[in-house]
Amino acid sequence: MHNNSERIIIFDTTLRDGEQCPGATLNIDEKLAIAKQLARLGVDIIEAGFAFASPGDFEAVNRIARTVGTENGPVICSLARARKDDIKAAAEAIAPAVKGRIHTFIATSDIHLQYKLRKTREEVIATAEEMVAYAKNFTDDVEFSPEDAGRSDPEFLYQVVEKAIAAGATTVNIPDTVGYTTPSEFGAIIKGIKENVPNIDQAIISVHGHNDLGLAVANFLEAVKNGARQLECTINGIGERAGNAALEELVMALYVRKQYFNPFLGRAADSEEPLTNIDSKQIYKTSRLVSNLTGMLVQPNKAIVGTNAFAHESGIHQDGVLKNKLTYEIMDAQSIGWTDNLIVLGKHSGRNAFGTRLRELGYELTDNELNKAFVRFKDVADKKKEISDWDLEAIVNDEIQQAPDLFRLELVQVSCGSSSKPTATVTLYTPEGEELMDAAIGTGPVDAVYKAINRVVNIPNKLIEFSVQSVTAGIDAIGEVTIRLKHEDRIFSGRSANTDIIVASAQAYVNALNRLYAFVLDQKKQEQVTVRS
Ligand code: KIV
Ligand code: ZN
Repeated sequence: MHNNSERIIIFDTTLRDGEQCPGATLNIDEKLAIAKQLARLGVDIIEAGFAFASPGDFEAVNRIARTVGTENGPVICSLARARKDDIKAAAEAIAPAVKGRIHTFIATSDIHLQYKLRKTREEVIATAEEMVAYAKNFTDDVEFSPEDAGRSDPEFLYQVVEKAIAAGATTVNIPDTVGYTTPSEFGAIIKGIKENVPNIDQAIISVHGHNDLGLAVANFLEAVKNGARQLECTINGIGERAGNAALEELVMALYVRKQYFNPFLGRAADSEEPLTNIDSKQIYKTSRLVSNLTGMLVQPNKAIVGTNAFAHESGIHQDGVLKNKLTYEIMDAQSIGWTDNLIVLGKHSGRNAFGTRLRELGYELTDNELNKAFVRFKDVADKKKEISDWDLEAIVNDEIQQAPDLFRLELVQVSCGSSSKPTATVTLYTPEGEELMDAAIGTGPVDAVYKAINRVVNIPNKLIEFSVQSVTAGIDAIGEVTIRLKHEDRIFSGRSANTDIIVASAQAYVNALNRLYAFVLDQKKQEQVTVRS
């Protein structure tokens, strides 16, 4: 029997469900960087991927299991459909983790049974039982999800959940796969499970939900009130379609409204015991890292981590906050690790000071990464006198961002102005090391640069999003460029930061094209394997 009234378990699925959103594709090094940061954030479980989906997914889960799945680290989990080959791949991928979990699922709604699975209810129950039992051969920690539970017949749901627990599931996860339910309905589903599944005290109730109606976080909080003890969420709420429940919103709701939630976990309202294991001071940094590496920008008014989340614009609010912060602030920016953006370094700062500040900010770089980042730092410091924490973060994220180094930008030069046609010249090295130069005229300098790059790279693509944001205020600020482009029906993102936004634009484009090119190469490799076998 589980003592699950103690605290809320945070199950992060940024690297699995989050990575499923268009354009958020990450390579293995980027996944590893995020997994390490999730461990620093203090999540209990990392769903590192879907091992069976591709050799790349398997490798990512496996490396995360090996590197982050340590004695004191989080549980490392892989998703698996309720099929033996899926479950076996998941088991092999998580094997190196000290604590590993297999998360297997099968749909239970009539819509899915009829149109997707073409199975009867009896067949679904039998498969769930059999596959949970099969997963138990590899690890004790097995999670079972009845997909589309939010639209499933509750009586059938109770039966499937009961059988999965009897077969050995230690966590039963209730997904609102299509983001359809309302908070009171979702709370009622959890209550129904607690009251109608006879062996429910042998498993932890988890929830998973999508944000199609903007209700995922509200649904989860209602679920907590009704007995859910594990929340499946993603950083910045990224994920399929409208995304998943946002980790930072859930954690801060439980932090700020602890007194309200405490009694639902069987505690005194004024208990000081934290409701989650999360180090909230790591939230902002994690959010920035995920946004930078996935290219999924955070909207300025996003709760908790948006740039406006702690800004007071109206005179009445500013006056109130100056008199007493409590007038308009329910939490302070420092609680999520938002620094005051102090000017910390300058042109004369040495490698030691640079490394020390990065460590203070929580970055653990290898010697090689530190050397590369220091070269970038010197370059920026030559152009920008004062370097703040936010600048440092932009520099380091640029270095961590591991867009595959296939095409390499050597030079970009533009000429533009009110009386000349925007013209760009670029020099790139091809993956084979050949130096190629080309030039183009565009409607503006960025258009000219992108046309020139396209003439060299020659892979069909359509630019669908381009954004420039300044990292700090001031005329010499670093500009961060994020772009998304489309090739056939896939989206690829790229990001770069530089004091020269044309250089940042060119580099962001090359980064996205490199991801696209790596994908094309990978596809070709897989086709060859299929033809041979
Ligand atoms: O949304 C969903 O139902 C899922 C399951 C695999 C848990 O992601
Ligand atoms: Zn999902």
